Formats: sequence, structure tokens, C-alpha cells
Amino acid sequence: MKKLLIFFMAVATMVLSNCTSQPTDKSNKPVAKIMTPGEEVYVKHCKLCHGSSGDLGLSGAANLKISVLNNAEIMTVVSDGRKAMPGWKAQLTPTQINDVAAYVITLRN
Ligand code: HEC
Repeated sequence: MKKLLIFFMAVATMVLSNCTSQPTDKSNKPVAKIMTPGEEVYVKHCKLCHGSSGDLGLSGAANLKISVLNNAEIMTVVSDGRKAMPGWKAQLTPTQINDVAAYVITLRN
């Protein structure tokens, strides 16, 4: 029984590590997109106002494509909120806020 449990844990670890690794071949995009932790947070909590590409601007949301904030500044806005944007420090961990800040920067490309 114990051996079986160890076997399942090993399989689960292998599956999980596969999920977090990024596809290397960008020309061959997978059908089901694998999301980074930062993108997952974004899709769940930020897309509503900022849109999937960052420029939706719902309820006056800043255009993230043309934002010039650095990672630390984004983390402050996300943690504490600003005007119509709510703060997220009660819902998100510092790691999640850091991840989503890094993802926000990728929207500028
Ligand atoms: C309820 C709508 C709403 C949600 C949800 C929301 N935002 Fe915002 N966001 C705004 C608004 C409105 C502003 C502009 C605030 C201002 O006028 O100062 C803003 C501004 C920002 C800015 C500042 C950009 C700049 O250049 O000044 C960043 C970065 C940002 N949001 C990231 C996020 C992230 C990351 C999330 C998800 C964790 C998120 N937002 C969720 C509405 C929202």
C-alpha cells in the first residue's frame, strides 16, 4: 500500500512538472494553451477590466500595453489598488502578485 502511494506521488510530481514547463517551439502553438502562474492570475482577476491583451479599458482601466511601470511599481498598484482598481493583497499572495506583474510586462510586446 505504501509503495503504491509513493508511486502515485511520483507520477503526480512528473505530471505537475510537465504542466509548468513552457513549450519551447513557439511556431507550433499547442491547441490548449499552457498558462504561466502569472497568466492564470491575470485571466482570473484582471482580464475583466484590462482585457486579455491589456487594452480593454473597462471602467477606466489603464492600458497595460502602453504602461511604463516597472515590476515593483506594478506590484504596488496591484497590492494596494488605485482609484477604480481594487487592491489584491487580501486575495493574492506576494508570489502571485509578483507573477502577475511579470505577466503584465509581457503584454507590451
Ligand atoms: C475593477 C476593474 C479592474 C480590475 C479587476 C483590475 N484593474 Fe488594474 N486598473 C483598473 C483601473 C481603473 C486602473 C487605473 C487606475 C488609475 O486611474 O489610477 C488600473 C490600473 C492598473 C495598472 C497601472 C498601469 C499604469 O501604467 O499606470 C496596473 C499595472 C494594473 N491596473 C494591473 C492590474 C492587474 C495585474 C490586475 C489583476 C490582479 C488588475 N489590474 C485588475 C481597473 C482594474
